[in-house]
Amino acid sequence: YVVDKGNHRHFMEKEIYEQPEIISHALGNYVDFAAKTLKPQADAIDFSKLSGLAISACGTAYLAGLVGKYWFERYARLPVEIDVASEFRYRELPLSPTQAALFISQSGETADTLASLRYAKEQGLKIGAIVNVQESTIARESDAVFPILAGPEIGVASTKAFTCQLAVLASLAIGAARARGTIDAAAEKEMIGHLIEMPRIMSRVLNAVQPQVEALSRDLSRFKDVLYLGRGTSYPLALEGALKLKEISYIHAEGYAAGELKHGPIALIDENMPVIVIAPYDRFFDKTVSNMQEVAARGGKIIFITDEKGAAATKLPTMATIVLPEVDEVISPMIYALPIQLLAYHTAVFMGTDVDQPRNLAKSVTVE
Ligand code: G6P
Repeated sequence: YVVDKGNHRHFMEKEIYEQPEIISHALGNYVDFAAKTLKPQADAIDFSKLSGLAISACGTAYLAGLVGKYWFERYARLPVEIDVASEFRYRELPLSPTQAALFISQSGETADTLASLRYAKEQGLKIGAIVNVQESTIARESDAVFPILAGPEIGVASTKAFTCQLAVLASLAIGAARARGTIDAAAEKEMIGHLIEMPRIMSRVLNAVQPQVEALSRDLSRFKDVLYLGRGTSYPLALEGALKLKEISYIHAEGYAAGELKHGPIALIDENMPVIVIAPYDRFFDKTVSNMQEVAARGGKIIFITDEKGAAATKLPTMATIVLPEVDEVISPMIYALPIQLLAYHTAVFMGTDVDQPRNLAKSVTVE
């Protein structure tokens, strides 16, 4: 693996564009592409009799875990406790050996995540680690290691590690669902089929949305505040979108569950705060669109990230509508991550910040 920028201006751009290839490689460790089944690597933790799962991580890895929570609960009917590691380690969460714990970390060295792992270990839980660096401390101290195989990630703002963490979490959730008998063999094959198709869809999306997103980033760079909204697994993506934008462009951004709009952020809506709405045409679409209507009625500017069906079903005026292909719910977080990453990237480039080394941030935080 050669660590250079290739034809890209920044490592972050390179890492965004290598996602289709890298994720396909990562999936290959967990999924048998020909048989459309999971490989034994996805079963290193026995989920069948667990009473619950605890997940802990920091930053972008935490947001991947939050998407994972939706998957484990929905597909495997496995209750998930999740917290940022700096809270998890101190909150005195009662845990029992009938649960397992998953720690997600690109570097495998984040101090708070490691401390959370040791806390869960002391309580007698089986420990799984989803890491990029396989020789890391977190990997070493775990019972089961699930590598994300993303290759070195140089940009401080995590991109390919995030989507690879999601791909691994999706594989584990499908495995957990099978082990717990909450999905049948046909449903399992279908979900795995979607995962296998995903890298191709990712390439298509990256190429298709790039010019529009780059043009839009010029407009976005004029604002001081941006709000991201999403529901279901699009909620963690709203958080991730806001995190990416603030980290590298220094524009103040917040992510909110769309349903919480009324409970606070709606007070801020005016023409000076664009609202980025992440809403594939899924079970939550109508609810999210009604939140969008509330924004529009108050003169808010909307950037709508949806799919073909979603765009056709909505007549609200928007500042921009980014239309993605229709995809199954199990892969939509990885697909919707792409325009979000590109929007943050191009906005930062347009503003002239140090994209790969944003001020005050570190790639890996090994102090408390
Ligand atoms: C820092 C990095 C983030 C990363 C977080 C967790 O804040 O800037 O990109 O998500 O640490 O790091 P980890 O290595 O544990 O995933």
